[in-house]
Amino acid sequence: MQIQEPNARSAFDWIGGEATIHALVERFYDLMDLEPGYAALRAAHGDTLEAARQKLFWFLCGWMGGPQHYTERFGHPMLRARHLPFKIGILERDQWLACMDQAMGDVGVDADLRARLQNSFFQTADWMRNQGV
Ligand code: HEM
Repeated sequence: MQIQEPNARSAFDWIGGEATIHALVERFYDLMDLEPGYAALRAAHGDTLEAARQKLFWFLCGWMGGPQHYTERFGHPMLRARHLPFKIGILERDQWLACMDQAMGDVGVDADLRARLQNSFFQTADWMRNQGV
């Protein structure tokens, strides 16, 4: 990802490092579990979200320009391939993005960074769609 602050800090530093990314991922999956508006997204996941919590945290650290925890453990993310077993249509994509945006708001991500991240999340989530609807 190419997001950088004007003074060239990485998105990882800008957001507040691992502590904020950890809080963000926890809030994201808590909301997915709690909010009726994310039920289709929740249904695309298994019974437990524990593996997803751990892996998204590792992934986002590297994706934002911080430590490469995910690739050190699993190699190239191959996100589209890894998501093929799950139904991802427009509904799931939009719920993922709304859930993440709400989580970013709840943990207080800077408004400028939040908008840039949301744009990058959209590109990634849209590319992962494997159903037309
Ligand atoms: C668009 C809607 C999306 C849906 C429905 C979805 C669903 C899922 C599901 C069901 C898993 C498996 C969780 C588990 O192992 O228990 C998963 C894993 C994962 N997702 Fe997503 N996801 C979406 C978008 C995204 C986006 C936009 C990102 C990154 C920005 C992302 C990053 C990841 C990562 C890193 C994993 C772990 C992959 C692995 O190593 O197995 N996902 N996702």
